[in-house]
Amino acid sequence: EAEFHEETLPVKFAHDGPLGKYDRGQLQRGLKVYSEVCAACHSLKLVSFRDFAALGYSEDQVKALAKAWKTEVPSINPETGEPATRPAIPADKIPSPFANEVAARAANNNALPPDLSLITKARENGPAYVYSLLLGYRDQAGYKNEDGKELLKEFPEAATPAGLHFNPWFANLNIAMAAPIAADDQVTYDDGTKATKAQMAKDVSAFLTWAAEPKMENRKSAGWAALGFLLVFTVLAWMSYKTIWADKK
Ligand code: HEM
Repeated sequence: EAEFHEETLPVKFAHDGPLGKYDRGQLQRGLKVYSEVCAACHSLKLVSFRDFAALGYSEDQVKALAKAWKTEVPSINPETGEPATRPAIPADKIPSPFANEVAARAANNNALPPDLSLITKARENGPAYVYSLLLGYRDQAGYKNEDGKELLKEFPEAATPAGLHFNPWFANLNIAMAAPIAADDQVTYDDGTKATKAQMAKDVSAFLTWAAEPKMENRKSAGWAALGFLLVFTVLAWMSYKTIWADKK
């Protein structure tokens, strides 16, 4: 059977490791990529607009972000009782752009764009996986597997069906999502960072990591506090041992 790449592309994040912290500037850039690119298909239903305050936005900026979001949220027309939509407010979750699953599948070759709130947790090595998936679209013609053999010669049945896209970092090798990050400067960053494909992929992966674990920094510092606490009590225990048994030589 044809193999997908278990190894991710090399990437390092500011939030890696026991001392790692999110890079707020990067999270803001990632939000920009998410909102201008990914949000055309993917919801973020475990995140509210007001959660974006943690990325460094003021209350007014959060309100403006919600109001300007390109998908309105489901609502009810108070006059007629009919389903309607209204602009988002900070308390709303980041909505799906599709009215329902049927509409979502109809727009995506029958595949369902998953909610991305927990995607970096749902996949092994999630942040690097998302990064690799975004940059992992390849030309299947002439593509060689990691063993150096040409994939299509070895596994003709792995040929990408019409409507799907070859991506050896996706478990099925062929994914219904067309490369969402397709060209440099697809978004314009407010902080002047050059929007290369790799930069956008990295920023949006960091942003989705934050979405799945907004309290990562608290978790890490609680771990360090616990270690400090244990150290203090180890010393105290050792000192009391020395005192209690001091005359029992
Ligand atoms: C699947 C991320 C933009 C349509 C996925 C998956 C991820 C992802 C992580 C899941 C892969 C897995 O199951 O392991 C992103 C990001 C985007 C983006 C970060 C923006 C940079 C889009 C856009 C569309 C789209 C714009 C629609 C035009 C889909 C569909 C699937 C999918 C249909 C399901 C694929 C399948 O099951 O074959 N996306 N996506 N995505 N995405 Fe996106």
